Amino acid sequence: MPEIVVLPHPEICPDGLAFEGEKGKSLLDNLLEHGIEVEHACEKSCACTTCHVIVREGGPTLSPSTEDEDDLLDRAWGLTPQSRLSCQAIVDDDRLVVEIPRYTINYAKERK
Ligand code: FES
Repeated sequence: MPEIVVLPHPEICPDGLAFEGEKGKSLLDNLLEHGIEVEHACEKSCACTTCHVIVREGGPTLSPSTEDEDDLLDRAWGLTPQSRLSCQAIVDDDRLVVEIPRYTINYAKERK
């Protein structure tokens, strides 16, 4: 089973978390099932960017991103080369280190 390490995030996961994930499920579902409340405004249909995460380790072991995902990611707050939409990334058997961005697009807009 893949170990999934979540780096601390001030609101969502202040102390960070490590847990045994489930292979074959999306990264978002793995996170939600362990109490990491990543936003998912479009209900996981690859139509928003609120489930954006940064995969600091193990990114290449996730299912490859589609063109749709890449197009959407271009609009995500705090985009990095390791960014993924967590609802689209399917977990394999390998360790992942995941960072949740400080803001989502919705939140960033509200604060401006
Ligand atoms: S929940 Fe909207 S793209 Fe993932």
